[in-house]
Amino acid sequence: MPDLIEPHVRVRESFLTAVEESLVDGRMINEDSMIARWIRQYGDRWHTEAGFAEFVDHLHADATPDAPRPATHVPQSTWWLVEGGVYLGRISCRHVLNDWLLEYGGHVGYEVRPSARRRGHATAMLRGLLPHVHALGIDPALLTCDDTNIASRKVIEAAGGVLEDVRGVKRRYWVPTSGM
Ligand SMILES: CC(C)(COP(=O)(O)OP(=O)(O)OC[C@H]1O[C@@H](n2cnc3c(N)ncnc32)[C@H](O)[C@@H]1OP(=O)(O)O)[C@@H](O)C(=O)NCCC(=O)NCCS
Repeated sequence: MPDLIEPHVRVRESFLTAVEESLVDGRMINEDSMIARWIRQYGDRWHTEAGFAEFVDHLHADATPDAPRPATHVPQSTWWLVEGGVYLGRISCRHVLNDWLLEYGGHVGYEVRPSARRRGHATAMLRGLLPHVHALGIDPALLTCDDTNIASRKVIEAAGGVLEDVRGVKRRYWVPTSGM
């Protein structure tokens, strides 16, 4: 049974293997993607213990209001899905919605590593995240996905997502964070 944990240095090797998988998979890697930004910032040193610790510290700090971040970004908490010490995926919750997040990005973002997909991990990960989102004072949470992203649609709908509308390519759902 996988656990949702706060980012931790002990899964460095499998996290980095998962990044390689995502790079091969390719679909998530555009210049603005989270992985692309992490690679730009930490890719030269996160294979070392100290470099990866720095990266993990950055993820923890990113949940605090005063951490340095681009003006367009908001505080964000991240959790990793881990089973038997192996990294499977990540999910994060933005603490507030700015204009762009309200329109397109939503509160929550997630990815399951390509080799672990279609085993129910994203569905379980979102369900496991909701109490944390609730504890951040968010209810309901906005989740968005591309209209063509069937898997993500199913994940959001399985969590009780109620479709508000479709804006451009994005479906926008409100997911209650209490009571599942
Ligand atoms: C979207 C994503 C997180 C789904 O992860 P996952 O662990 O494979 O999802 P699950 O196993 O929980 O599957 C959820 C549902 O989607 C279906 N599904 C999964 N992958 C699918 C695919 N490629 N095509 C069609 N359906 C798919 C599953 O069969 C399941 O359906 P069910 O509820 O009817 O049984 C994963 O594909 C991913 O990381 N994609 C790239 C990043 C991304 O798109 N993130 C979301 C941004 S909004």
